[in-house]
Amino acid sequence: MIGRLNHVAIAVPDLEAAIATYRDTLGGEVSAIEPQAEHGVNTVFVTLPNTKIELLGALGENSPIAKFLDRNPEGGIHHLCYEVDDILAARDRLLAAGARVLGSGEPRLGAHGKPVLFLHPKDFLGTLVELEQA
Ligand code: CO
Repeated sequence: MIGRLNHVAIAVPDLEAAIATYRDTLGGEVSAIEPQAEHGVNTVFVTLPNTKIELLGALGENSPIAKFLDRNPEGGIHHLCYEVDDILAARDRLLAAGARVLGSGEPRLGAHGKPVLFLHPKDFLGTLVELEQA
């Protein structure tokens, strides 16, 4: 069911510093900062030949990454995003298997304007998983 690795997301305390690390130190191709107000994050994408890195900075008071950054003050890997062909079919299969889908269970538009869902890390080896419709 899961397809390509769309991105690995890293939550960071200082997005400008993270951009400098990926652009200047690592020589990556880094996008502009894109605010995702509905998700409470600012995002930057680093395009690699085979996948992307998503750098996440907190946006607003109740950012969903605030607690993560409290526990990981220097930042850290936050989630993995896998592509699926049909996100509703994927969700229904996962729910039938007893997995927990976060939030309302309805897909929301993610950073690429495509429907996404997040899966409970306790059901997936301690890793927060994002599914994005390809
Ligand atoms: Co993501």
